[in-house]
Amino acid sequence: MHFLPVLSLLAATIGLTTAQYTVYQPHQQVIFGNVNSTQSLTGTAAAALYTGAAAYDPTVLQAPPPPVPPVPTNQFIQLYSGGMNGLSAPVKGNFAGFSIEMSVAAHVLGKNSSLLQVSFLNLMANIKDRVGSVQVRIGGNTQETAQLVPYLPNGTIISKGVANNPIGTPPLVFTPDLLYLMNNISSLTNTRWYLGVPFFNTTPFDDTIIVQGQQILGSNLLAFQAGNEPDLYAKPPRTNRPLGYGPLNYMSDIGMLVNQINQNNWITQKNNLLVIPSISATVWTPEDVWNTGIVGSVSNSLYALAVERYPNDNCGARLGLGVTINPQDIFASYLTHNASVNLVAPYVNSSQFAMANNKPFLMFETNTASCSGFPGLSDSFGAALWALDWSFMMAYQNFTAALFHVGGQGAYYNPFTPPPTNQSTFRQWTVGPIYYSTLAMAEALGPSNASRVLDLTQNLLTPIYVVYENGTPTKLALFNFVTDPSGANDYTVTFAVGGGTTGQPGATPSSVQVKYLTASSVSSTGNFSWAGQTFGNNFESDGRLQGTSNIQTVNCNTQANTCSIKVSAPSFALVFLTTASLQDVSTSTLTFPTTVTTARNTVYINPSVLANSNGDYGFQNKKGTTSIGSSSDARSLRQALSGSIALISIVAIVFTFLNRLPS
Ligand SMILES: *[C@@H]1O[C@H](CO)[C@@H](O)[C@H](O)[C@H]1NC(C)=O
Ligand SMILES: *[C@@H]1O[C@H](CO)[C@@H](O)[C@H](O)[C@H]1NC(C)=O
Ligand SMILES: *[C@@H]1O[C@H](CO)[C@@H](O)[C@H](O)[C@H]1NC(C)=O
Ligand SMILES: *[C@@H]1O[C@H](CO)[C@@H](O)[C@H](O)[C@H]1NC(C)=O
Ligand SMILES: *[C@@H]1O[C@H](CO)[C@@H](O)[C@H](O)[C@H]1NC(C)=O
Ligand SMILES: *[C@@H]1O[C@H](CO)[C@@H](O)[C@H](O)[C@H]1NC(C)=O
Ligand SMILES: *[C@@H]1O[C@H](CO)[C@@H](O)[C@H](O)[C@H]1NC(C)=O
Ligand SMILES: *[C@@H]1O[C@H](CO)[C@@H](O)[C@H](O)[C@H]1NC(C)=O
Ligand SMILES: *[C@@H]1O[C@H](CO)[C@@H](O)[C@H](O)[C@H]1NC(C)=O
Ligand SMILES: *[C@@H]1O[C@H](CO)[C@@H](O)[C@H](O)[C@H]1NC(C)=O
Repeated sequence: MHFLPVLSLLAATIGLTTAQYTVYQPHQQVIFGNVNSTQSLTGTAAAALYTGAAAYDPTVLQAPPPPVPPVPTNQFIQLYSGGMNGLSAPVKGNFAGFSIEMSVAAHVLGKNSSLLQVSFLNLMANIKDRVGSVQVRIGGNTQETAQLVPYLPNGTIISKGVANNPIGTPPLVFTPDLLYLMNNISSLTNTRWYLGVPFFNTTPFDDTIIVQGQQILGSNLLAFQAGNEPDLYAKPPRTNRPLGYGPLNYMSDIGMLVNQINQNNWITQKNNLLVIPSISATVWTPEDVWNTGIVGSVSNSLYALAVERYPNDNCGARLGLGVTINPQDIFASYLTHNASVNLVAPYVNSSQFAMANNKPFLMFETNTASCSGFPGLSDSFGAALWALDWSFMMAYQNFTAALFHVGGQGAYYNPFTPPPTNQSTFRQWTVGPIYYSTLAMAEALGPSNASRVLDLTQNLLTPIYVVYENGTPTKLALFNFVTDPSGANDYTVTFAVGGGTTGQPGATPSSVQVKYLTASSVSSTGNFSWAGQTFGNNFESDGRLQGTSNIQTVNCNTQANTCSIKVSAPSFALVFLTTASLQDVSTSTLTFPTTVTTARNTVYINPSVLANSNGDYGFQNKKGTTSIGSSSDARSLRQALSGSIALISIVAIVFTFLNRLPS
């Protein structure tokens, strides 16, 4: 039933907006159709009849059956003071970021530099409030032919031409105002950006975006990707390079680009500039590229090494390329630790290679499946657990960052999706499962940039990681991939810090605090909860968490020097082992509440007023109220919070969608 309003809203808006969102390329295929709202749609019948945008597809899969025998119900984890063997290198709190397809940038970020999407600001601010900054890449296949032009006639900042190539990627034109827009977002949310140099035309390369990007974005600019999945350039049906285009040809292209940059006096910063090779690793292996000597040959010009990876593709169903995969058939393959173990394996050597060359190693674009993901899978709670396990695994294997792709209306996997019109109205964004993963990952790593991750998994259906900061274990991350309402697959992790036979004094905390990420089933496509709070279901979000925060306090056994945490099937539990580690990430997310509006009104607000107004609402104290509490006095915690919650509701009502920045 919940999707009926969705369908009618789509029916109302779809005709208006088709042109704006139609982009054809593998990672972001758009299907627009008409919704027959006269039908009464339920369950799979609804999914079968649904022809609207992928982002709101009502398909719900079946959760895989519980394992026989059940997962081990008691698992013991021994931690040590000072550190453990095998910890990753330190990773930054902003490890999990976003990759936004360039063609949908204006739709997601804002209409122009003075009309920012407030929900997007809130979504970025949530991460920034927890870890200090956010990493976002604007690019993808559509960057390869994108052309920076001084202005566009009708005041738009991005516009698409007509597709004239086999995979149907239309050329893109954009104005410097996109870069001003990004810079304005940075000044409000400390978002740091990656862009891309168009790589299809090499004679010469169009390096305008580097010149303008450096001038306009300054230190908010991280780097430029040079080549997006170059190992696919010559793979039929693509013809962006001649057949046989290989790693040595790519190296030669990069050499030409570096020469051109070095000769361009308008490019002020020439070092630490480029991200290479961003291969899909389905045609060339990373080693094929490293073995050319490319990294040594242009080392000074390189900011980072990168790869892109999706575990599957849905190109069969979306583009008619290859076999059509039924998402139900592969759902279980995402719901096991083996998924991330096997997916990371081809990159283990490469992360060591990057470290040896003193370069960051980025997962520049990833998500559940390329060609837009799978209905019912990419938008499920299972996808949230998969993305979180995958993020921890990459951190553990010494990746430096991982960017989750946003494809727009036509994708099933979006961490967040703006409403399908050029008008953002009250609470009309859709926050998907993978955004919850990035938020939980931010909290797991915290703001110190010193977090080191270790995989302590004992059972593939129940991954376990520990996070150390400066020699102290500060968090445990506990997964349960099983769906089993009977309770037979709930499990308990008992952990100890030191003590026992370790030869160290017992250092288990006397109590810990736990935040759970939950939904009723791995197949749920909504009703996600992060410590009791939610972004709502389709079309319900303004980018801020709603509801009462519910953080469990667990008292440990100080006599035995142990602590026991329950992880129900399915869920993810983030266990804060120190009070400070929870306080570090407990913040007000009420970042951009403004003033009263209705769906049709446009209200202009000076953002400097916005920034200050948070303090005026008194939410800075919320940090204290959520950090202390216990399951036994959850009621009193709720009462203590109710004052803030009442205020939250008021502020939530007085929300507006458009900001005017001083110009
Ligand atoms: C909508 O569906 C009903 C029932 O299947 C059908 O009779 C009707 O023709 C459809 N309308 C349109 C506009 O497709
Ligand atoms: C990650 O880096 C750390 C620190 O350099 C190292 O000890 C560890 O072995 C590396 N892990 C892997 C899987 O390469
Ligand atoms: C942004 O768009 C609005 C509405 O179309 C317009 O009034 C404003 O001047 C534009 N701002 C810039 C910087 O172009
Ligand atoms: C002007 O705006 C229309 C409607 O948004 C769009 O289709 C068209 O491509 C734009 N033209 C240019 C040159 O940007
Ligand atoms: C936003 O962008 C405009 C350029 O269009 C610039 O003049 C203005 O100062 C920016 N505002 C902020 C807060 O960065
Ligand atoms: C996990 O993956 C490995 C391959 O890396 C495979 O051999 C093994 O059978 C898988 N285990 C399960 C339970 O799927
Ligand atoms: C990784 O490196 C080891 C040792 O150099 C080598 O044996 C192995 O084949 C490499 N793995 C890949 C995937 O290239
Ligand atoms: C949406 O875009 C169309 C085409 O550019 C324009 O005519 C319309 O006024 C816009 N609507 C709003 C609310 O901005
Ligand atoms: C963590 O890294 C980010 C990004 O480089 C930086 O902005 C921030 O200041 C760092 N925080 C600390 C505590 O070092
Ligand atoms: C959310 O939960 C309600 C109440 O159980 C249910 O009716 C609704 O279908 C759920 N929505 C989704 C998207 O799972």
